[in-house]
Amino acid sequence: MGEKWTPQSWREKPIIQVPSYPDADKLSAVEETLRASPPLVFAGEARNLKRALAKVAEGKAFLLQGGDCAESFAEFHADNIRDTFKVLLQMAVVLTFGASLPVVKTGRLAGQFAKPRSSDTETIDGVTLDSYRGDMVNGMAFTEDTRVPDPERLVKVYNQSASTLNLLRAFAQGGFADLHKVHQWNLGFVADSPLGERYRDLANRLDETLQFMAACGITSETTPQIRTTDFYTCHEGLLLSYEEALTRIDSLTGDWYCTSAHMLWIGDRTRQPDGAHVEFMRGISNPIGMKVGPSMDPDELIRLIDILNAKNESGRLTLVSRMGADGVVGGLGPLVRRVRDEGRTVVWVCDPMHGNTIKSSSGYKTRPFNAILKEVKGFFQVHAQEGTHAGGVHFEMTGQEVTECTGGARAITDDDLSAHYHTHCDPRLNANQALELAFLLAETLKDGRRNEPMKIAASS
Ligand code: PEP
Ligand code: CO
Repeated sequence: MGEKWTPQSWREKPIIQVPSYPDADKLSAVEETLRASPPLVFAGEARNLKRALAKVAEGKAFLLQGGDCAESFAEFHADNIRDTFKVLLQMAVVLTFGASLPVVKTGRLAGQFAKPRSSDTETIDGVTLDSYRGDMVNGMAFTEDTRVPDPERLVKVYNQSASTLNLLRAFAQGGFADLHKVHQWNLGFVADSPLGERYRDLANRLDETLQFMAACGITSETTPQIRTTDFYTCHEGLLLSYEEALTRIDSLTGDWYCTSAHMLWIGDRTRQPDGAHVEFMRGISNPIGMKVGPSMDPDELIRLIDILNAKNESGRLTLVSRMGADGVVGGLGPLVRRVRDEGRTVVWVCDPMHGNTIKSSSGYKTRPFNAILKEVKGFFQVHAQEGTHAGGVHFEMTGQEVTECTGGARAITDDDLSAHYHTHCDPRLNANQALELAFLLAETLKDGRRNEPMKIAASS
């Protein structure tokens, strides 16, 4: 892998999961427009995230990634951004308390628009058209015109991402993220939840802690950390034309950064060691992620780690495991063991969504809440067994009360799915389901910490 990297070197490699644009000149003109546009994030912020992720790798912080499967032009609204951000903050507070660790917050937001697909085409009633690849590529409506890939959509994505990021920054720094407010929202959730009793103890203890802190003079007025938060963005780096155009040299370090988001990841379908996506990601200095599904074998994983994190830098590489509820213990164990034994430093995160998608009896793509929970628990079990750090979780979720995943305390059934099924791609947890998972996870994290001294005592 000693070959020279440039932002364009991916163009020499085999590539899959990208559209073929009918008008190459139009694509070039759009790339030029993007190249001339300001970066969306600053390289220094990406470095801050990398430092935060290095703490996650050491087991001194926990990573929460969450947001839409696919952002869309139709659902672009301040309320949607606010509500997803709000639930992520609520989850982060609960997890911080459960783990007694800082939680690094990253949203699948402000750039998560392009989707890999299992088939290049879709056939309905004998008509075959290009598959929908996310609003960044084409439209979801099943008509010939909308399914044609249009490069202008890249500019629209850039503009929507800039507005989204602007609002997220305002929320994160302007007082919306105040810990006391977030806690009040959580108390509201606990009061309304059918399983609220189960969470009340944790919420009450958090309440007492905040009151104690206030009595000690640690309040929103005296302590900026109480009223603001760091919030990062991430998305799958799938459309490399877009990512390349936003890749710039950082004037402070002379290193290349992709400025479309703080963190980019490689999907499970585009992680070929000799492929274009791996080539692009190896040269940017952002923290990067890679999805790790059931087809990954330990040798291939080590090979990919060596390409993507040649210097074994802590915080550089996050491996997002998505094995499925029944496959996680058997599938992840050997990979975690091998990475540990070979001394590679990575962050391990659990995506319990993509291995648990099923077709419901009512015909919708869905994910059962219990399967999601089971995969997260299996992920923690593997890390407990291997003596490694379970670094975090990666959810597809929204702040809206959609009905896309079944189960949860409010017990969404197959028949309920049609009521509010809005996703442009995969089924997301709704606000209540996402928060409920955070509470259940916090219990697991707390139990883990309680058992730690015993584990140490037993082994000494
Ligand atoms: C996704 O995160 O939306 C996705 C497509 O995941 P994966 O690459 O793991 O299938
Ligand atoms: Co998805």
